[in-house]
Amino acid sequence: MSTRIPATLIAGDGIGPEIVESTLAALDALGAPYDWDHQTAGLGGVQAVGDPLPAATLDSIRRTRLALKGPLETPSGGGFRSSNVRLREEFQLYANLRPARTIIPGGRFDDIDLIVVRENLEGLYIGHEHYVPIGNDPRAVAMATGVNTRMGSLRLLEFAFEHAIAQGRKKVTIVHKANIMKALTGLFLDAAYDLHARKYKDQIAIDSVIIDACAMKLVLNPWQFDVLVTTNLFGDILSDLVAGLVGGLGMAPGANIGTDAAIFEAVHGSAPDIAGKGIANPTALLLAAALMLEHTKLPDLAARLRNAIDGTVNIDKVRTGDLGGNANTEAFTKALVARIRNG
Ligand code: NAI
Repeated sequence: MSTRIPATLIAGDGIGPEIVESTLAALDALGAPYDWDHQTAGLGGVQAVGDPLPAATLDSIRRTRLALKGPLETPSGGGFRSSNVRLREEFQLYANLRPARTIIPGGRFDDIDLIVVRENLEGLYIGHEHYVPIGNDPRAVAMATGVNTRMGSLRLLEFAFEHAIAQGRKKVTIVHKANIMKALTGLFLDAAYDLHARKYKDQIAIDSVIIDACAMKLVLNPWQFDVLVTTNLFGDILSDLVAGLVGGLGMAPGANIGTDAAIFEAVHGSAPDIAGKGIANPTALLLAAALMLEHTKLPDLAARLRNAIDGTVNIDKVRTGDLGGNANTEAFTKALVARIRNG
């Protein structure tokens, strides 16, 4: 008898409930042993209990240490702080894992199989910003402070090396800007070479590249890279670039991983422009669920899920509108579930 695994489920905003429903159907068909605790956050949390990150949701994740979540809406400019950022901080989810793999051949770039590992809590992303007034201009100067710590860098780098080795990867590339931000990203670069020399030199190769050159090289020849590891802001930008190499946000999963909890999600947002129309592509969240299956030591189920996605879009040619097809979410899910059951 398989052991049941408690997990928190947040349907999220916009297309969230539609793609979560599809993902649950696929996980059910696989017989994935999750016991879901349904919770709210984002706009859904505001509507349900007047809080974008309700205490019950935090309590649930504290208990399960595992969550699958749909996208959460964050108002731009004013309004409440991003519930996503707060979740990362609350549970110290320091590693953001974003694999990008070609699923549909024949695009601009074929056979892409890259992993971006992004530091998720430090760097220029921490939002320590202020204005300095001069004369009658209250916003004459804007200042931002970036913070990287050796401890924060080392734990992220250790995660990245371990993950790369576990995935059978050959090379880890450290992406930095230590020629200019000598302290902020130099610390990260030094920590990487130091850790590699101490612990990983016999297991995997390391090299490094400056962020601007990396962006160019990814467009000219992405196949030269394997695993890219970098600080928060560079990782944010690079992981979208890499998602673009494999067909866009509809295909890009993400995992936020810490010592005490892990939260799995699509990289894309709540897509308010298509919410409620039943046409969203659930693939990014499905691929996030595959990462969750691996994280909970169910790699066979993850492989079956990925194979079924491949078969649905490439053999059955059932594709949603964003991939040039005409299937709606329900038709795609039906075809996927049939593949899982028959595969
Ligand atoms: P978005 O990713 O929601 O949408 C960008 C474009 O991609 C839209 O045209 C949308 O229709 C399309 N799209 C996204 N996912 C799709 C899917 N699965 N299938 C088909 N088309 C898809 O980005 P946007 O519009 O900038 O953000 C909307 C809201 O989502 C904002 O409130 C933002 O803060 C939030 N957001 C939440 C994230 C999270 O919870 N992790 C991540 C990014 C944004």
